[in-house]
Amino acid sequence: MPEFIHKPVMAAEVLAALSPCPTGRYADGTLGGAGHAAQLLAASSPTGWLFGCDRDGVAVETANTRLAEKFAGRFEIRRGNFSELADWVPVASCDGVLLDLGVSSPQLDQAERGFSFQNDGPLDMRMDNRQPLTAAGLVNGEEAEALAKIFWEYGDERDSRRFARAIVHDRAQRKFETTRQLADLIERLAPRHGKKAHPATKVFQALRIAVNDEIGSLKRGLAGAVKLLKPGGRLAVITFHSLEDRVVKEFGRERAREYTFPGEVDVPELRTPIVPELKWVSRKAILPGDVELKENPRARSAQLRVMEKI
Ligand SMILES: C[S@@+](CC[C@H](N)C(=O)[O-])C[C@H]1O[C@@H](n2cnc3c(N)ncnc32)[C@H](O)[C@@H]1O
Repeated sequence: MPEFIHKPVMAAEVLAALSPCPTGRYADGTLGGAGHAAQLLAASSPTGWLFGCDRDGVAVETANTRLAEKFAGRFEIRRGNFSELADWVPVASCDGVLLDLGVSSPQLDQAERGFSFQNDGPLDMRMDNRQPLTAAGLVNGEEAEALAKIFWEYGDERDSRRFARAIVHDRAQRKFETTRQLADLIERLAPRHGKKAHPATKVFQALRIAVNDEIGSLKRGLAGAVKLLKPGGRLAVITFHSLEDRVVKEFGRERAREYTFPGEVDVPELRTPIVPELKWVSRKAILPGDVELKENPRARSAQLRVMEKI
């Protein structure tokens, strides 16, 4: 098994938000290297329980091995999308649910996973390698219009159309197979001119989000996570870019609303009062502290939002 080291982001803040205790049951939908999971189990010793999942087979294997060393008999782990947690975790059974979104450091660092423009590898980007769609599939198969939409919507890439047209032009000569091939094309089209960020950063982010249907999974996952919670249980979500954060914020706002309205537009005169399903624990996003920011560059863009089931 390749080494799987991932420093959990905002671990102290997650523990403060979920306050694990020995009678508690928790679900971690993004196990990764089990950093947060191990802390939840340690803090809920000796009897706290953890349900966990990850779409990545290596992550699941690693998490299983790591947790079994100290917490055998106190967890159940399955491979799968967190949007399906409510299919196997008992409804209204959990005191806390954690989603720590995005990819892990090992996924990014292992060239053969194809997430990184820094290490040359196959243009893959699948978190779950059982799914057929890869980044190469999108890059070689989608029309220019569809590719531009992906780069714009998921990457906020201003040059989305130009990049998409160039991809379609180049692939007629030679299909895109590697991360380097794609990164080099973008760099030729948008030279760095001394800028720190690689010009392909946004295109790679956008492809990763599209390949893994990250926004769709998140929307379904949030709805599912609320079903798992007991009244008073908490949902903690760590996001790493504004698109994800917006989905979490809108979800929380909608479920914390004390009224409904017919149709799409909120007309105050047509509101009907309801009992909301959630309340915000803190309305503002919680950000990592200075010490963590210095020690862990991955924490730079992290934001934690916490909601409580009513
Ligand atoms: C940031 S890492 C989590 C790290 C983990 N909290 C730790 O402390 O080691 C994100 C993990 O979530 C997984 N993941 C992302 N989206 C997922 C989804 N929709 N369903 C299941 N796992 C997902 C990725 O495969 C990756 O392993």
